[in-house]
Amino acid sequence: MTQQGIPEQMTVVVLDSYSGAEALRVEQRPVPKPGKDEVLVKIAASPINPSDLAVLTGHYGYKNLPPLIPGGEASGTVVAVGPGLMGRYFLGKQVACLSQGDTGVWAEYVVTTTKGGVFPLNKGVSLEQGAMSIINPLTASAFLQIIKQGGHKAIVLTAAASSVGQMIARSCQSAGIKVIRIVRRDAQVEMLKQRGSAIVLNSSDSDFCQRLHDICHQNQVHLALDAVAGSLTAQLLEALPPHSKVTVYGGLSEQAPQASLDQIIFQSKAIDGFWLVPWIEKKNLLQILLLWRRAQKLLGTDLKTEIRERYPFEDARQAVEDYQNHMTGGKVLLVPN
Ligand SMILES: NC(=O)c1ccc[n+]([C@@H]2O[C@H](COP(=O)([O-])OP(=O)(O)OC[C@H]3O[C@@H](n4cnc5c(N)ncnc54)[C@H](OP(=O)(O)O)[C@@H]3O)[C@@H](O)[C@H]2O)c1
Repeated sequence: MTQQGIPEQMTVVVLDSYSGAEALRVEQRPVPKPGKDEVLVKIAASPINPSDLAVLTGHYGYKNLPPLIPGGEASGTVVAVGPGLMGRYFLGKQVACLSQGDTGVWAEYVVTTTKGGVFPLNKGVSLEQGAMSIINPLTASAFLQIIKQGGHKAIVLTAAASSVGQMIARSCQSAGIKVIRIVRRDAQVEMLKQRGSAIVLNSSDSDFCQRLHDICHQNQVHLALDAVAGSLTAQLLEALPPHSKVTVYGGLSEQAPQASLDQIIFQSKAIDGFWLVPWIEKKNLLQILLLWRRAQKLLGTDLKTEIRERYPFEDARQAVEDYQNHMTGGKVLLVPN
């Protein structure tokens, strides 16, 4: 293993309990060493995603017990490798990487597996864009496939001002699929309209449900992608024509999706869920490679993410609070000193 220039100790962000941002602190830990088929990544940047917020309160799909290092995705440079051919391929490359098991990526150095934990960045992709090139871009790509496979010509999208919402909408637009966007504030309506979105509804408006119903029926929409859940899921089900489906892929309302028995039983409408992790696991290596290459190419356009603010690891608590208070308008990045 090449360890030249790599310090003995590193700064990591630690979550002490499932009580959110206030349970975050930094500590010094030994820099880990990569084993067989593993690489050591010197981290450059990592976004705060809604899934990270869910980890901080113990509400994510993986439930590792605190104390734990949070952080779902990041970018960096491979500075050391363990035994194995793939490791040698990655040495010196700029990469995007994912958290592994109980170890998140909010750390100066991260060991990850060459088997699905690390992806090479295209030349020309900055480390900051690269830090956000896995979770949301691949989710938007997954939804585009799902929408096309379902033969949908129009869809409804909630939390449409979110980073992934804008990626899904731009991807659909490029593919000629109409998107009815739902947001919760007038400022978000204005923002999306200025960016060329034709139909944007505000769920806080008094006539929202009626307008949504009319638009869904006029456009024969049978699929809604819902990142909010709670009562909005029930409103979507009511608005869609019979035999429609709401796919819940986020819980921004922090409530379980609601539905009326009438809609489910007598109108033949359904709710299902989407999580990127099992969706990707069902793909073979070639399919993943093609998805990755496509996503890398579109990072400057359909799959672009805006950045609003950067914080050092030492200010992780403040960074998370800032993000929670202003989610629209770009990601908050954690950047090691
Ligand atoms: N299932 C999966 O595999 C998967 C993968 C990727 C993303 N996701 C989900 O996709 C969603 C968006 O992620 P992102 O990274 O794109 O988020 P983001 O860029 O950080 O934006 C979050 C957006 O959600 C809005 N929002 C927050 N709470 C809301 C609520 N209670 N009702 C309505 N809107 C609300 C925010 O608006 P305000 O400014 O008004 O708060 C903001 O526009 C999240 O739920 C995330 O978990 C799921």
